[in-house]
Amino acid sequence: MKIAFFSTQPYDIQFFESANQAFGHELVFFTQALEPATTSLAAGAQAVCLFVNDQASESVIEALEKLGVKTIALRCAGFNNISLEAAKKADIRVCRVGAYSPEAVAEHATALLLTLTRKTHKAYNRVREQNFALSGLLGFNIHGKKVGVIGTGNIGQAFCKIMLGFGCEVTAFDLIANKEMEALGVSYAPLIEVLGADIISLHCPLNEQTKHIINTETLGYCKKGVTIINTGRGGLLDTKAVIDALKNGTIGALGLDVYEQEEKLFFKDLSSTIIQDDTIQRLMSFSNVLVTGHQGFFTIEAMEKIAHTTLENISNLENKLPLTTGNSIV
Ligand code: NAI
Repeated sequence: MKIAFFSTQPYDIQFFESANQAFGHELVFFTQALEPATTSLAAGAQAVCLFVNDQASESVIEALEKLGVKTIALRCAGFNNISLEAAKKADIRVCRVGAYSPEAVAEHATALLLTLTRKTHKAYNRVREQNFALSGLLGFNIHGKKVGVIGTGNIGQAFCKIMLGFGCEVTAFDLIANKEMEALGVSYAPLIEVLGADIISLHCPLNEQTKHIINTETLGYCKKGVTIINTGRGGLLDTKAVIDALKNGTIGALGLDVYEQEEKLFFKDLSSTIIQDDTIQRLMSFSNVLVTGHQGFFTIEAMEKIAHTTLENISNLENKLPLTTGNSIV
């Protein structure tokens, strides 16, 4: 099948070309993101392969239908950027990579957390300037802390296990309590209770219910100086409310791998441009905020699994075979 890849980076080409040796699809790579102006690039392809910031809105899907596209294959887990209703109407199948390496993202959330709790981002720069003084680097133990996990799907579960290993008391909020997690010692509680933890990590999808789940009101239930880690989606946080909470000390540390307006910034080298987004600039100006550019998924193991599963999904759809549980959306 001919597959048009959008938002392609050199590493996508490397991993997909290697995985495709087992599938033999025709792969066409575009660096452009999918949006109304770039939809025509999919002409001649039966499938498009999209990433987190490609926008398959209603009008884009209508245009894809006219081009004869039958499949939207997401090379990621989240699908908040796809109009599922429009896809259904256009009879376009949407598949994703439900679980490629939840540990990759959970470990990245832990990396953000450890950097913030022990201020290694500051220590790294300081030691390079031959400044070995410790003042300003005082951290706190993760061991013994209360950790609140919002969303205990694949990634949330992996994160819970890491935090249990650290000796934390883990409380979670999800629509469904997970029995395996409960057996391991995770207790489920209403959101407002979970928000009272020392450390909060977000692992739920972005949807109508979770948009701005961290906002001025919910921040009111947080402990003064709470550490918040977001590797989910930027829209889970009301960024303006978060900036106010950083200014008044409600949030003591913030680790972000995702950002509400990230599609204009992330996955690009903007080092020789003037960034016009004042909000991210303000966020990055806090010494207790650490931002990474959506790299939670970016490990060798995860990239190999993403490439293989995406191409396998497309082959299965082409051959009218069922998809692995969790990979089928529409
Ligand atoms: P998943 O589908 O396995 O788990 C999501 C969990 O959230 C489920 O247990 C679900 O019941 C729960 N949930 C849904 N609505 C909720 C609500 N209103 N309140 C509380 N919980 C709710 O998804 P997975 O693989 O664990 O991924 C989670 C999210 O992480 C993805 O949706 C995606 O946005 C993000 N992600 C980020 C990556 C990165 O590189 N930073 C990479 C992969 C995913």
